[in-house]
Amino acid sequence: MLHARSSAAEWMDDAAATEAEFAAALRDLARINRMSLAYRPVLRWLDRLVARTGATRLSVLDVGAGGGDMLRAIARWAAQRGVVVELVGLDRSPWAGRYALAAGTPARWITADLFDLDPAERFDVVLCSLFTHHLPDPVLVRFLQWAEARARLGWLISDLHRHPLPWGFVWAAVRALRMDPMVVHDSTVSIARSFIRADWARLLAAAGVAAEIRWTFPFRWLVGSIRA
Ligand SMILES: C[S@@+](CC[C@H](N)C(=O)[O-])C[C@H]1O[C@@H](n2cnc3c(N)ncnc32)[C@H](O)[C@@H]1O
Repeated sequence: MLHARSSAAEWMDDAAATEAEFAAALRDLARINRMSLAYRPVLRWLDRLVARTGATRLSVLDVGAGGGDMLRAIARWAAQRGVVVELVGLDRSPWAGRYALAAGTPARWITADLFDLDPAERFDVVLCSLFTHHLPDPVLVRFLQWAEARARLGWLISDLHRHPLPWGFVWAAVRALRMDPMVVHDSTVSIARSFIRADWARLLAAAGVAAEIRWTFPFRWLVGSIRA
């Protein structure tokens, strides 16, 4: 069942989702992000980027930023490290920006499909979490080239590992925790749409983009590049 990337649709990608449905899913996604330690590897990668580039000011774009909780974690990280950040959230759902800004995300927000972003916009850092599995392979190849071209200092993808262990664990956990129906549906679909290392090697080769591929606990891939 998990031998290749699934193309099953996620409810979150249904443009007909109402604001209430989308907001409920974003609330539970933030719970999952906290419980699955989703911020930590991204913040450690930012530590490495700052150490290697010497940057003290960073513009950071979060693609598919959802409820903005990663950007809020980055704002806290920046305050602790004394790094001045200019944060930008991008999400094609109009409900994401409304939710993120109401939650106090200290970011400029762009509601658009990523490929419609103004071609002149570039950022020191382009990152995304739980986003790339939404894209089919040919679009993901284009996204890798897009990130490479948009990021001045580095880019990072954090996404799920397609493996029976997290699939089974997540299937049980979202039900035990009585999560929102959209999250219950999309969580295992997300894992089935996600990646093994060979997928990333193949996609990077197709994009002609060089990057480091790292596995991180619990069952995530970090794919990224720092220019220094
Ligand atoms: C699973 S959510 C992840 C949200 C957040 N990054 C997190 O980790 O909780 C994926 C998000 O990507 C957005 N998205 C999907 N395709 C997109 C596209 N082509 N351009 C911009 N946003 C997109 C969806 O609207 C959704 O909010």
